[in-house]
Amino acid sequence: MRVKKLTDLGVTGKRVFIRADLNVPQDEAGNITEDSRIKASLPSIRYCLEHGATTMVTSHLGRPAEGRIGPDDTLAPVAVRLSQLLQVPVRLIPDWVAGGFTVVPGEVALLENCRCNPGEKKNDPTLAREMAALCDIYVNDAFGTAHRAEATTCGIAQFAPVACAGILMGAEIDALSRALDTPGRPLVAIVGGAKVSSKLTILKTLATKVDQLIVGGGIANTFLLASGKRIGESLAEPDLVKEAHAIMDFMRERGAEVPLPVDVVVADEVSALARANKIAIDEVGPHDRILDIGPKSAAHLAQIIANAGAIVWNGPVGVFEYAQFAGGTKMLASAIAHSKAFTIAGGGDTLAAIARFNIADDVGYISTGGGAFLEFLEGKTLPAIAALEARFED
Ligand code: 3PG
Repeated sequence: MRVKKLTDLGVTGKRVFIRADLNVPQDEAGNITEDSRIKASLPSIRYCLEHGATTMVTSHLGRPAEGRIGPDDTLAPVAVRLSQLLQVPVRLIPDWVAGGFTVVPGEVALLENCRCNPGEKKNDPTLAREMAALCDIYVNDAFGTAHRAEATTCGIAQFAPVACAGILMGAEIDALSRALDTPGRPLVAIVGGAKVSSKLTILKTLATKVDQLIVGGGIANTFLLASGKRIGESLAEPDLVKEAHAIMDFMRERGAEVPLPVDVVVADEVSALARANKIAIDEVGPHDRILDIGPKSAAHLAQIIANAGAIVWNGPVGVFEYAQFAGGTKMLASAIAHSKAFTIAGGGDTLAAIARFNIADDVGYISTGGGAFLEFLEGKTLPAIAALEARFED
């Protein structure tokens, strides 16, 4: 992928507009509960500050309605966290599209939630042109939003005098491309999560590439159904059983496999107080809900991971937020941490599991992307990266 890179450009004295992905989870009181995306965005911002650029940063937060900034939409908590991490003042600018604000050297102007601007989501060219007029250099560092064709991720790249990839964007493209182009073998993918439907394309793509496809969570339940097992009241998508079957058949024909749980942890509700039972898969009762894999299945997965040459990880294998259903994901995390294989991991739940089991230092590359990570793995062209590629020659 040929894109200009921020670190190859002279930014001194220039007005630099950085589109970051600072879309971080918050609790009900608005406190940031996980800030790895903010931390991952620091190198580009620091680079601009250290090189004397006028530094403007924006991001979306959530999926707000355009035209107003509701109390849940503001980047105010992000401004506070960013300022703490950078140790420089970060001023939040509410109405910024038309300009009229000044940024003093050494401070960061955080431009309020860009997804609240009318025309952002539709990639409106008038909005994109107005924003492009604010800068000399446009930097896209928002890998997590690279699969969205919006005005701050695409349109502005077309109209800004110069458009380049930030340090994080460049690192994501390099690391993911390298891991996919020449993966070690056996290549093992772990795809967990609630629904087959939201990950069907990635499951089908991976089925053509990987040697073992480990499915977890509600996805595994649908695969269990497809293999004729009873799953009680577990989360599953019976209308996708045929698709799951086709994936398993396809893998088998390639000499690859989808290992399914032989034992599980069940309860009759998903809650911190739920009583968990470890049982064989054939013992699942009509009112049971499968909430984790059992110890035999976890040990089998650990064995597969120990022998892997490369690992792609997206999604947990159980409801690891509750201790009694965390065993499978914990074992998986530990196996990945001890594996010699290069692991790439991405997705919100996966990042939370990596943090929970404290294995960040043992994972080869942790992507800040969720949907973007999956689409990149699927081999799709991400519109924001395509927009930067289109400006490579200018
Ligand atoms: C994400 O959280 O995956 C990115 O920030 C993109 O958010 P979106 O799905 O709301 O576009």
